[in-house]
Amino acid sequence: MSQSYSISLDLAHTAAERVGSHGLDASYFENLPHRVRGFRARLNLERGQGKHSYLALPHDQDALETVLRAAAPRMGHFDDLVVLGIGGSSLGLWALCRALSPLGGAGVCVHVVDNTDPLLFADIAGRISLKRTLFVAVSKSGSTLETVLALGFFAGKLRAAQLKLADHLMVVTDPEKGPLKKFADEHELEALSIPPGVGGRFSVLTAAGLLPAALAGLDIGTLMEGAERAERACRECALEQDWPARLGLVATDLCRDKGKRGLVFMPYSSRLAAVADWLVQLWDESLGKGRRLDQTAVEAGQTAIRAVGATDQHAQLQLFLEGPNDKFTLFARVERPEPDLPLGDFEWEAFDAGFVRGKTLSQVLNAQQRGTAQALAERQRPNATLSLPALSPRVLGELLLGLELATTYAGFAWAVDAYDQPAVELGKRISRRMLGG
Ligand code: PA5
Repeated sequence: MSQSYSISLDLAHTAAERVGSHGLDASYFENLPHRVRGFRARLNLERGQGKHSYLALPHDQDALETVLRAAAPRMGHFDDLVVLGIGGSSLGLWALCRALSPLGGAGVCVHVVDNTDPLLFADIAGRISLKRTLFVAVSKSGSTLETVLALGFFAGKLRAAQLKLADHLMVVTDPEKGPLKKFADEHELEALSIPPGVGGRFSVLTAAGLLPAALAGLDIGTLMEGAERAERACRECALEQDWPARLGLVATDLCRDKGKRGLVFMPYSSRLAAVADWLVQLWDESLGKGRRLDQTAVEAGQTAIRAVGATDQHAQLQLFLEGPNDKFTLFARVERPEPDLPLGDFEWEAFDAGFVRGKTLSQVLNAQQRGTAQALAERQRPNATLSLPALSPRVLGELLLGLELATTYAGFAWAVDAYDQPAVELGKRISRRMLGG
């Protein structure tokens, strides 16, 4: 039997019959399966040519076992885990840790140093006991300035406390090259690899995300099973159920043809807030390009915006409902959160909230999501909803790989290279010159 996704995408509120001229017409949706089939064929062909390497990760049992073997002897020996990394080397692991926050397990308290802000360094240094802290420096290139500064600062602290680096510092980097790999070899630090073909923002399912997650006590085996399900589904599922391909196409066409220059990603889940941060980087850095693959000029891309429901109903929703109609909102809803909490007996009526009597918190949260989606549609603002059966490691693995696929497909639709970031070097070079470098 062919594999299907457990996550589904409801595109009803992107149709012109719901949102008028801001939506896509019936013929668009009739043609969509045909376009999805074409994109899938291209993906398969290019995978055969060695591209899109992140899709091989869920099947890499050796890599998973390497991470588990590296984490096991350190479990229970540390109270704090401090990850030194930025961009793809911090957002993914943070998304994993926030979504699956370990409850009562062998987990440690996770901190991420992802800025050159002295107050961040000082806050974390002030909160940890070095003897009981494990540091993991994550950098694909091994030369990212922010990460190198954090490494230098905390390695200095370990040395000053006469603690052996190898006992307190691990590294995740390129297996062959880069200054971080060299540093690890020189100091006999355990170094895990980010496969050379996998770019930073697609590295959440490599040791970059998995090692910190395992050290935090999360179930990375089940996470990878979910990712594997998504990888199989992307080849096997019915075209109508291929939510990553449909999302990549619809988001791009709403941007290009209907002026929806922003993609609001609004999960109704506090635990998925960091997945929204992760998606912002993935979508913006992958799709925001000035050249197509054929080198013709383009202003490609759609600005991803993070929002969290219901929290940001009280912050951003007014803008989304009445401000410029230039956004496409993608909601995510967890159908059966565990634990769900019944709303007990209280004077609800006195607060004009008698309607919640006998309900659970998730029933209220999900009604808020549906209400917001409906309100946007009534204001002719296209929106779609990802429906997650639960918020488990398995579903998270499927979600992350699915969103990576959606980004790849959006890259196809824009005809850009989703895996490079040629423009970000300029600001780095100017700052370096300002510091005399
Ligand atoms: O997606 C990317 O490649 C970047 O955003 C990187 O993740 C980021 O610049 C950090 O790079 P590195 O992992 O080399 O330190």
